[in-house]
Amino acid sequence: MSKGLISVLTLSVLVSWTIGGVTAATYSVVDHGAKGDGKTDDTQAFTDAWNAVCSDAAAPTFLVPSGMAFLLGQVVFQGPCKSNVHVEISGNILRPSGLWSGGVVSWIVFNNVNGLSIASTGVIDGQGSAYWTCRNNYQCNDAPSALTVLNANGSRLSGLKLINSPSKHLIVGRSVGVTIDGINVTAPGDSPNTDGVFIQQSQHVSLSNAIIGTGDDCVAIGNGTLDVTVTGITCGPGHGISIGSLGSENSEAQVEQIHVSNSRIFNATNGLRIKTWQGGSGYAKNISFEGINLAAVDNPILIDQYYCPRGDCALNQSSSLQVSNVRYSDISGTTTGKIAINLNCSQSVICTDISLQNINIQSADAGGTVVANCTNVQGTAVGIVKPTVPCLN
Ligand SMILES: *[C@@H]1O[C@H](CO)[C@@H](O)[C@H](O)[C@H]1NC(C)=O
Ligand SMILES: *[C@@H]1O[C@H](CO)[C@@H](O)[C@H](O)[C@H]1NC(C)=O
Ligand SMILES: *[C@@H]1O[C@H](CO)[C@@H](O)[C@H](O)[C@H]1NC(C)=O
Ligand SMILES: *[C@@H]1O[C@H](CO)[C@@H](O)[C@H](O)[C@H]1NC(C)=O
Ligand SMILES: *[C@@H]1O[C@H](CO)[C@@H](O)[C@H](O)[C@H]1NC(C)=O
Ligand SMILES: *[C@@H]1O[C@H](CO)[C@@H](O)[C@H](O)[C@H]1NC(C)=O
Ligand SMILES: *[C@@H]1O[C@H](CO)[C@@H](O)[C@H](O)[C@H]1NC(C)=O
Ligand SMILES: *[C@@H]1O[C@H](CO)[C@@H](O)[C@H](O)[C@H]1NC(C)=O
Repeated sequence: MSKGLISVLTLSVLVSWTIGGVTAATYSVVDHGAKGDGKTDDTQAFTDAWNAVCSDAAAPTFLVPSGMAFLLGQVVFQGPCKSNVHVEISGNILRPSGLWSGGVVSWIVFNNVNGLSIASTGVIDGQGSAYWTCRNNYQCNDAPSALTVLNANGSRLSGLKLINSPSKHLIVGRSVGVTIDGINVTAPGDSPNTDGVFIQQSQHVSLSNAIIGTGDDCVAIGNGTLDVTVTGITCGPGHGISIGSLGSENSEAQVEQIHVSNSRIFNATNGLRIKTWQGGSGYAKNISFEGINLAAVDNPILIDQYYCPRGDCALNQSSSLQVSNVRYSDISGTTTGKIAINLNCSQSVICTDISLQNINIQSADAGGTVVANCTNVQGTAVGIVKPTVPCLN
């Protein structure tokens, strides 16, 4: 074959590649009228750009350009779209700082967008302080979560920086195969209900390399989750990494295959917590916490099957979720509390197959002592477990 023929073949491949439409279009919100001056409401421009992107069949990009700040109201980016959409958030996005009338529970929603990828270097700022005050004064029942991704199979969220949400920062729900990597979530330690990442009704989710410090759970795993991997989390301040709460109002919940590893939790009310309500049903099983470093955590290892934040529940009910097959290994650090390990399981359905291995949790106060408590637990302790857990074999 001559050199000339090879280059002709190469050329024809390149041309057909381009003609085939693989060169994807970019839709900037600015081209759809967004001002990006931090003052003008750019919601309509975002919606218009989304409609254009979503009807493009050639893997388009939705662009929020850098160096600008876009004021964005409540918005739902609705699919299904003609092809996989890539969202590039390079500029900053701000919620108007006041309270919204009515019971608004979400700010930015992506719904029914399989294959969504969001890559961000900008900041998504929920400007939530008016809501925090309102909630602390018991004047607001609802507050909007910042970013919600629903029904988005095979999606990927990377680099997101979310701050000061009125309520939860990132919710992932009803999705299969979601990768969340390299996110940074920040809100004041005393801002109410500002969970970092909340995952529910989803399967095969991976959350890695996140820095999360808020006023509630850094990571919360809710009902209907199967196979969630959480690794490389720096958590604090906040309420730690939680499974639950599950089983409120006598509901059924199913949570399975949750694996948390290689993370650090500091200045937090809880470390690794499983919380369920009395009267619920279903299960939380096959859960592991491995390679966790703790510093100044009030309740480092906690199973609380009597969860009742308002203190108005009937305790010792005849039904409860079953917690089983939970492994804690290679966990060390300090606690600001007294009960370093608290396994407080239901009388009606005890916790089974709970194992602890290589645990060393000490008091954050020099010379302070810590204890472990357990109620209705069957399980084993392997290797060094400090403090000693009396009920384990
Ligand atoms: C996501 O995948 C699940 C399981 O295959 C399927 O039941 C669901 O309908 C899919 N969701 C969407 C939005 O396509
Ligand atoms: C995470 O965000 C906080 C608050 O904006 C910032 O102080 C911190 O430097 C960020 N961390 C990283 C690694 O980007
Ligand atoms: C711990 O977090 C609280 C907010 O919850 C903050 O006020 C305090 O400065 C933090 N302490 C340390 C030692 O980081
Ligand atoms: C919990 O999730 C399971 C499985 O997805 C579902 O069947 C059940 O209805 C959910 N419970 C509640 C209270 O939503
Ligand atoms: C627990 O989960 C792991 C992976 O997430 C899986 O390989 C294993 O089979 C599960 N074990 C049980 C007892 O279900
Ligand atoms: C277990 O939970 C019950 C009910 O909330 C509570 O009274 C008890 O003090 C808890 N035990 C420990 C050791 O925290
Ligand atoms: C539940 O009942 C048992 C046995 O009657 C009792 O020892 C325990 O203190 C009760 N726990 C709670 C939280 O009421
Ligand atoms: C917790 O354990 C300690 C040490 O074994 C024990 O003295 C204390 O009574 C227990 N507290 C509860 C609430 O079970």
